[in-house]
Parts: sequence; C-alpha cells; structure tokens
Amino acid sequence: MPPDRSMPHQSPISSQRSSPLDLRTALRDAIAQLEHANVPSAALAAELLLMHTLGQDRAWLYAHPEHELDSAAREKYFALIGRRARGVPTQHLTGHQEFWGLDFEVTPDVLIPRPETEHVIEVSLERLGVSAERADSPRRRAAYRIADVGTGSGCIAIALAHELPVAQIVATDVSAAALEIARRNAARHNVATRIEFIECNLLDALLRQSPHFDLIASNPPYIGRREAATLPREVREHEPDSALYGGETGTELYAPLIAQAAQLLKPGGFLVLELGHNSAECVASLLRTHEWTDVALTKDLAGIARVASARRLQ
Ligand SMILES: C[S@@+](CC[C@H](N)C(=O)[O-])C[C@H]1O[C@@H](n2cnc3c(N)ncnc32)[C@H](O)[C@@H]1O
Repeated sequence: MPPDRSMPHQSPISSQRSSPLDLRTALRDAIAQLEHANVPSAALAAELLLMHTLGQDRAWLYAHPEHELDSAAREKYFALIGRRARGVPTQHLTGHQEFWGLDFEVTPDVLIPRPETEHVIEVSLERLGVSAERADSPRRRAAYRIADVGTGSGCIAIALAHELPVAQIVATDVSAAALEIARRNAARHNVATRIEFIECNLLDALLRQSPHFDLIASNPPYIGRREAATLPREVREHEPDSALYGGETGTELYAPLIAQAAQLLKPGGFLVLELGHNSAECVASLLRTHEWTDVALTKDLAGIARVASARRLQ
C-alpha cells in the first residue's frame, strides 16, 4: 500500500524502538521515511547514509543484512535520515561526491559536482587531442597551461591535472570559502603544486598577462534568478547562490567570460564551456565572431546541448 501522504509524518519505528535492529530492517524503514518525504532516489540515499554511518562499502552492507546496529549507530543513522527527509542533500551529510572517478570533499560552500560536468573534461581532452593517448604518452605529458573559471570544489581543475600530469593550472573563484575547499581537494589528490587558486571575478587577475593558455574551461553559474522557484529545494536552499545564478536570465556571465578567454588564449587554444538548458543559442552566437573557429556543441546523455567549445583563431 502506498504511504498516505495526507497523514502527518510519523517518526520511523526503527529510530524509536529499543529491540535489536538489523541492517535490512533499518534500510527498509529509512527508505519508507524518505519516500514519505518525497525524497528522490530514496533507496540510494538510504544506502549511502548507512554506508557513511557504518564506515562500510555497499558490498559489505549486502553481505551482512542481519548485522545489528548498536544504539549509537541507530541514532546517528536516523538523525541523518531525518535531515535528508528535511531536504539536506546527501552529499552535505556525507561530505563527499565522486567526480571523474575521484573523491571530492564537498560542503555547503561549493556546488556539488554533477555528472554532466564530466562532459567538460571529456571535451577538453578531445580538443587537446589526448583522449585516446596513454597516461605516459608525450602528448599527455605536454606542459599545457590551463585555466578553470569558477572552480568551486576544484573538480574541473583537479580532474584535468589528474589527466595531464605536467599541466599547470590556474583556478579562479569569487568565493574565498569555495577556494578553501578546492585547495583541500587539490592536496587530497596530490596536484596542489600544479594548481594556483586565485580569488577574483572571472579571469580579471590575469588580464595583464599576454595570451598563454592552451585551454580555458568553465562551468559558470547559469541558472536564471527568475527560474529559482523551479529548482528542487535541495538545490535552492542548500547550494550557494553564487554557484547557481548567472543573472536574471542565467546567461549573463558568458559574454564577459568569452571576451576574456579571447584575450588570454594562445592562437589555436581552446575554450570549453558548460551550458545551461537554455544557453546554447546565446553562447553559440557569442562564438560566431572573427575570433573563434571550430565551434561545436556537445550533447549530454539526455540529448541536451551541454558543452560549447571553440578554438581561438590563429
Ligand atoms: C556552477 S559552479 C561550478 C563549480 C565547479 N566548477 C563545478 O563544475 O562543480 C560556479 C562557480 O563559479 C563561481 N563564480 C560565480 N561567479 C563568478 C565570477 N564572476 N567569477 C569567478 N567565479 C565565479 C561560484 O562561486 C561557483 O563556485
């Protein structure tokens, strides 16, 4: 029988009772509580939070369904489930998100890295011509100079540093708190010596330099403030405004970013930009100028144009 959503929410049986509670029952009760609160992917969230509570992986959970939670674990687990039911993202409760196969620390100060942003990494590697190259090939080991604008958790800069073992990267953000997390993530993945983190608007701090970048990548904020009410509460209430909103329409940062990239890319260098659901046309038209060539739009798995890329004309 589906839960009666008209009834006031009851506390879960599992968090109240004092009798032994095994993993299978704890998971079942947690999923019911999350579904009752309309949490998307309730089973996945319940599993991730149980793995986090017990410090175990999924295989261990599946292998030990009869394992009994002690009272401390039970209390901790259902406190997390309660917070998730009230809209706190799972990643803020565990403090982690995987991106490009790497584990990233996340806090409410940074955007939680999204799977679709991995297309930015794929397109960047394709544009540099190294996608099919082995990790130790000379092309991968070229001394690329790269910028990541609006680095947040550092996921784009760090994934590129990981793929390109001698690349030098500059990562900017307007948020000092985000840069702190990004620095910690760079240290965690042993690439801190190759990434310079700078607090500034777009690429402002670099504009006096001559064009020297081989690649500039960015996942800028691209949601319109006028769309705020349409966002899930997890996003609207828990992720930083500065990471979400690119202005009233959402496309406002692309024009200054493209203009700065044109100044700082070497001739033949590449610009790779993540797109919002309604920004492809605007960005493509900004790239249809004498400064850019080879303009391409790459679709994500849902068939939405997700990445725009272009080459700075020689
Ligand atoms: C959509 S988030 C992307 C974070 C990360 N690169 C990712 O892909 O998960 C955008 C980031 O840009 C930063 N930001 C917003 N406006 C900016 C600006 N004018 N200049 C530099 N960074 C900015 C935000 O603080 C946020 O960290």
